[in-house]
Amino acid sequence: MEQLDAKQRWEERYAESDRIWSGRPNARLVEVAPGLTPGRALDLGCGEGGDTVWLAEHDWHVVAVDIADAALARAAELAASRNVLDRIEFQQHNLTETFPQGSFDLVSAHFLHSPWDWDRDALLRRAADAVAPGGTLLIVDHGEAPPWAQGVHDHRFPSVTEVLDGLALDAAQWERVRVEQSEREAQGPDGQSGTLIDNVIVLRRR
Ligand SMILES: C[S@@+](CC[C@H](N)C(=O)[O-])C[C@H]1O[C@@H](n2cnc3c(N)ncnc32)[C@H](O)[C@@H]1O
Repeated sequence: MEQLDAKQRWEERYAESDRIWSGRPNARLVEVAPGLTPGRALDLGCGEGGDTVWLAEHDWHVVAVDIADAALARAAELAASRNVLDRIEFQQHNLTETFPQGSFDLVSAHFLHSPWDWDRDALLRRAADAVAPGGTLLIVDHGEAPPWAQGVHDHRFPSVTEVLDGLALDAAQWERVRVEQSEREAQGPDGQSGTLIDNVIVLRRR
């Protein structure tokens, strides 16, 4: 029932428009991933595939996961248009219930927020489990709502500390490569300029 509800809600969100996100890779992924050796990547909540396609274009083999069939279909369409379909496996999961098999050199969760209640801490702990030795866990959250979305949702975003506390990782096993709140300039859906605050967590499994 929970699966149906969450899935239905995200399908409805995607049905609102032919395209919700920009189609471009996320800024922090483009900052972090070039410092890593390409291997197997897991893109959690891949949305319309901007990150997935960028990773595939940069020699990664990607498992791209989303709860919404509409998101996966759009991501696959983008991948086909960029000739990288053969480097990507798309999987539909409600990640609070099922999770892709295997281990990964990069597990990436970008803006994996939901306006609906869910156990995101447990999901992120499962994501950490899926990181191979020597691999990287990259979590990027909104520090606060983008200026053009403020007041639209009353969503409270977790702080970096809350995310780390929720992960409860063994410090001996994980190196904190980058843990910070970071600002960047960006453009909103109607071309408006604004400052975004990202909570960036990059952890390397020893
Ligand atoms: C805010 S969007 C971010 C999309 C993409 N990562 C990006 O940065 O553009 C969150 C994505 O997570 C997906 N999602 C939400 N809850 C999920 C769940 N329980 N399991 C899998 N995917 C989920 C949504 O369908 C949506 O595509």
